[in-house]
Amino acid sequence: MAGFDRNFTDELRARLSIVDVVSRRVPLVKKGQNYWGCCPFHNEKTPSFSVNEDKGFYHCFGCGEHGDIISFVMKSQNLDFRAAITELAAAAGLKMPDYKPKSPDQVAREESYVQIMESAAQIYQKKLYEPDGANALEYVHRRGFNDDMIKKYRIGYAPKNNFIANKFVNVKQDNLMATGLCRRGEYGMYDFFRDKLMFPIFNAHGQIIAFSGRSLDGSEPKYINTTDTELFHKRRTIFGFNFARDAIHRANRSIVVEGQIDAIQMQCNGFPETVAPLGTALTEDHISILCKANRNIVFCFDGDAAGQKAAARACDIVMPFLRDASDVRFAFVTGGKDPDEVLKTSGADGMRKIIDGAASLVDFLWNLANAGFTVSTPNGRTQAEKFLKQKIGKISDVTLRGEYEHEYDSRMFNEWHKWRKSKNNAPKIDLPQIDSITQNTLIFITNKYPDIAEQYAEFLASLNISLDGDAPDMNLDRPAAEKYLVSLKLQKYLEKLYIQRKELAGQMLTGADVAGKIAEIDENIRDANSRLEKLISM
Ligand code: UTP
Ligand code: MN
Repeated sequence: MAGFDRNFTDELRARLSIVDVVSRRVPLVKKGQNYWGCCPFHNEKTPSFSVNEDKGFYHCFGCGEHGDIISFVMKSQNLDFRAAITELAAAAGLKMPDYKPKSPDQVAREESYVQIMESAAQIYQKKLYEPDGANALEYVHRRGFNDDMIKKYRIGYAPKNNFIANKFVNVKQDNLMATGLCRRGEYGMYDFFRDKLMFPIFNAHGQIIAFSGRSLDGSEPKYINTTDTELFHKRRTIFGFNFARDAIHRANRSIVVEGQIDAIQMQCNGFPETVAPLGTALTEDHISILCKANRNIVFCFDGDAAGQKAAARACDIVMPFLRDASDVRFAFVTGGKDPDEVLKTSGADGMRKIIDGAASLVDFLWNLANAGFTVSTPNGRTQAEKFLKQKIGKISDVTLRGEYEHEYDSRMFNEWHKWRKSKNNAPKIDLPQIDSITQNTLIFITNKYPDIAEQYAEFLASLNISLDGDAPDMNLDRPAAEKYLVSLKLQKYLEKLYIQRKELAGQMLTGADVAGKIAEIDENIRDANSRLEKLISM
């Protein structure tokens, strides 16, 4: 395709729904797996033109036309490739990349870089089992890597001295520097990775395009990664994908964790479909790589503030990729742990609980809106509503976006106005005054059923009334007396809650952040009301 950047066209395909694009010109109806309409490329009255959303292809059973989102725009609007891409990029909200086709020269250079990386990896692997790698080997064993894992992930050790710079004397210095392995300083070439535990970073074909080196002596930064080179683009590389690809197909989902050791341990302990971004926040390219397999992703982040932020960002990025069959979820590992530590302490079962408990994207966003704004106030609700609208505005699948809107509309109505509704529906209770009738009833009960009174002694004392003397005879048997006391206690409790609520509402007017407390009280009010209702109806 005219040397156009494959990553970019792939991202267009991943971001845009072919059903959306086609249905702008051809009305489509869903039947079974596919969408059907009348073919725009030949004359017909009964639909034989089918569109497959998952595969991103259209096919006409009448005239045989078929293709993808790009060829559809080219053919249906008579545009050349570049013009079609430009139009689709605008629809996807993407900037057109400056494209430069790779020259034969560059292709040759990249091949030689891959060879250098491969030799370096072999040397690092060997070093790990030599005396100067002993410390690193002990460390990596301690981190729960056995020798099979070390071999599979090709983990190695970069020694302290300028090992690569001295060893690769036959390689042109420019090439060595272009791989990111060496740099040139005042005193000549030096190694970028020194005294590091080395994790090769593979491209999707399993070629080594970069390294990530972990410090072994506690020095900061903990990890250094090859900086971007002609071969390696951090934003476009997702760690572990070469190993996980088949599993992602099989499991029909991918799991994204934050760290590369987490990804490896997950892959080796029951979650082979796990990958990790590389020392960077998640990017669109990462998602579009994963979406080529399927659109089911479980993001598994740390439970801390940084993890929450990463999840919110992941959510933003994933929105344009959502389709009706997508299942995107968010799990959090709490207790200051990461997946590696959970696997160590609670095993695959512990991890599975976390993954299985992941919140759906719909719930995650809803929780984000509710946690981020004071939804007990009209202003807070407005902000939260705008927040949700802005997020779902990023969904490019029009039908899906509509469904998200409906979902949140109904949640906003049902949940945000719940307390108001429940107040209206709640049984009307006249708040108890301890009037003379109540007082006489209580005196009657304490005289006639002293054991019951004993049970409620604390409550009776809190009423602060005299229960001495005699009361007129009443028609109250034991169960009725008991019920009377319980309901009175509930009513007094409710009275207290209403007073607390009123005070807090007053504080809120002065800007205090008491929404959480109010919500808690509302919960208690609802609870007490329903207990009272049950009691009365008994
Ligand atoms: P973490 O700080 O959570 O480290 O960084 P970790 O993965 O738990 O590392 P271990 O278990 O202590 O070895 C998460 C990821 O962020 C990147 C790495 O990819 C790391 O796996 N990172 C972290 C860096 O690139 N540089 C750093 O200095 C730290
Ligand atoms: Mn860790």
